[in-house]
Amino acid sequence: MQGIYIKSPILKILIGILATLITIGAILLVAFTEEIRMEEQAASWEGRSIENGAALYATACASCHGVDGKGASGPALNSYYFFTDTGRIQDVEFPGSLRQYVKLTIAAGRPSKQQSQWPVRMPTWGADYGGPYRDDQIEEIVDYVMNWRESALAQTPYEDPWRCFEDVPTPCDEQGFVGLLKRVGLTPEEYLAGLPAEAQPTPPPARPAELLFTEMGCNGCHALTKANAAGAVGPDLDPLPQVAGERIPGMSPEEYVYESIVNPDAYIVEGFPPGVMPTNYAQRMSEEEIRSLVDWLLQP
Ligand code: HEC
Ligand code: HEC
Repeated sequence: MQGIYIKSPILKILIGILATLITIGAILLVAFTEEIRMEEQAASWEGRSIENGAALYATACASCHGVDGKGASGPALNSYYFFTDTGRIQDVEFPGSLRQYVKLTIAAGRPSKQQSQWPVRMPTWGADYGGPYRDDQIEEIVDYVMNWRESALAQTPYEDPWRCFEDVPTPCDEQGFVGLLKRVGLTPEEYLAGLPAEAQPTPPPARPAELLFTEMGCNGCHALTKANAAGAVGPDLDPLPQVAGERIPGMSPEEYVYESIVNPDAYIVEGFPPGVMPTNYAQRMSEEEIRSLVDWLLQP
């Protein structure tokens, strides 16, 4: 069999360059997808660790610290005071991070602690201290406990489930967050009042009446010359400015048309079926929009 023989040296060079580019491209692609894969792997490892930690917490800790970590015969851990930098970690004067504090407390426990207001003692869990769990299992439990940080820090002073330790160096005359605020000279009310008010969503601008007439489908059922509408399911609205004041004795034209839109079955125009016009317009338009639609319909 005869191989393909390329004569032109330029063509050869081009083919060589092309082959190199394809190889580089392939390598980059593999490197790129590998990076994504590794990131996903890391995220799922962390997720799995929290999951494993949750299972261990449920068996080993929930009975004393509460299923949701808000405390029972043992102290609350899912607490603003517990997680905030100026809270528990500062009061116990622990030299490391909260994570280290949590890990050490879980691993070593406080088996010999005598004066405690708690009816039970915190057991030892780490194998290094004679407890049942390996270091990686302790880490998983720590991951799970630390995973409450965000929700705990979102608690208001009144939501913080913390119950004070009698041994906390700073006098702690009220529970967790509230006691913490007291030390900085704030009442919970002052603290809450100082929080940035939740941003009020700005209402969307009112839509003009002409637009509402088509957007709400009025034109599909009603005829109205100024809207180029020819619907015939409901009454022709061209004579509305003349008839609106006479439909219901004692009702002004504005009141009648308003009522016809928000509560169409309150009055049924002779010769037309009830229960056909939609009854949810009050929810679909703002008060301002309904009023402008009423005015517009009554303008001759
Ligand atoms: C038999 C009840 C009991 C069990 C089970 C228990 N704890 Fe505790 N835990 C306590 C008590 C009581 C304290 C407070 C000890 C003290 O007075 O210092 C405590 C303290 C702690 C603290 C330190 C709180 C602080 O603010 O100083 C952490 C963290 C903690 N426990 C986590 C755990 C975890 C995680 C588990 C499960 C592996 C667990 N505990 C299981 C009773 C328990
Ligand atoms: C699915 C059809 C339908 C749609 C959509 C509809 N209507 Fe109606 N409308 C009717 C029917 C049928 C009647 C007559 C029965 C009644 O009085 O409820 C009516 C009655 C009215 C009346 C009373 C007319 C009179 O002569 O007294 C007004 C005013 C009115 N509609 C305005 C509107 C407006 C404004 C919209 C849009 C926001 C709208 N309608 C959407 C079917 C509809």
